[in-house]
Amino acid sequence: MERLQKIIAESGFCSRRKAEEYIKSGLVYVNGEKITELGTKASFGDYIEVDGESITREDKVYYLLNKPRGYVSTVSDELNRKKITDLIDTDKRIYPVGRLDYDTTGLIILTNDGELANILMHPSRGVEKTYVAKLNKAMTPKDQMILKSGVSVDGIKCIPTRVKVRDVDYNKDTCIVEISIVEGRNHIIKNVFLTLGYLVDKLTRVEYGFLKLDNMKSGEYRELSIKEVKKLYEYKNQ
Ligand code: URA
Repeated sequence: MERLQKIIAESGFCSRRKAEEYIKSGLVYVNGEKITELGTKASFGDYIEVDGESITREDKVYYLLNKPRGYVSTVSDELNRKKITDLIDTDKRIYPVGRLDYDTTGLIILTNDGELANILMHPSRGVEKTYVAKLNKAMTPKDQMILKSGVSVDGIKCIPTRVKVRDVDYNKDTCIVEISIVEGRNHIIKNVFLTLGYLVDKLTRVEYGFLKLDNMKSGEYRELSIKEVKKLYEYKNQ
């Protein structure tokens, strides 16, 4: 017997957090009985329905995608824009682990494994993510120092784990910065630079933990190996 929200997440239907919302909103039935209590236990042998759909155990799949510009990284979009899930040829109900902005490119994981998604997105886990940002002007040495020591965004300090200023060209007024962070607030990189007075013209995520984008083309994807998935599960113990 497992907690109901865990079973729903393991089925690949949605994340554990989303499953909790379904339960609280009275949209979950176990053997015909409506369940609204979060601690309720059940098993895959029970007949479970979420929002009118029955839950069965689904094989887990894991993909690493090089997200192109102009795609949303959500499973639905009120503006009907292109979704990254459409780029992956699968009949499984996959969803992205975290988000990249519509105009951000680069490495993103998609899976139907709610447990792993939950582990990786948990704020305390500290998966390091590396981005390459092209700024609208050259960064001054003073701002580079401030960036390295941390910048407050909405009252919370974001301290990069690594900053490498590449190609700062004061004549052409261009600048490319490689920056690694562990936190996952929405638009955090753009907001960090905005706080210092810079706009991010281009943003690419090149690393997620030990995973690297390498030479994958835009829109290209691959399945993660069993070894890689096991290694991602190790973040559970961090
Ligand atoms: N930070 C941002 O500003 N945008 C992203 O897409 C990811 C991190």
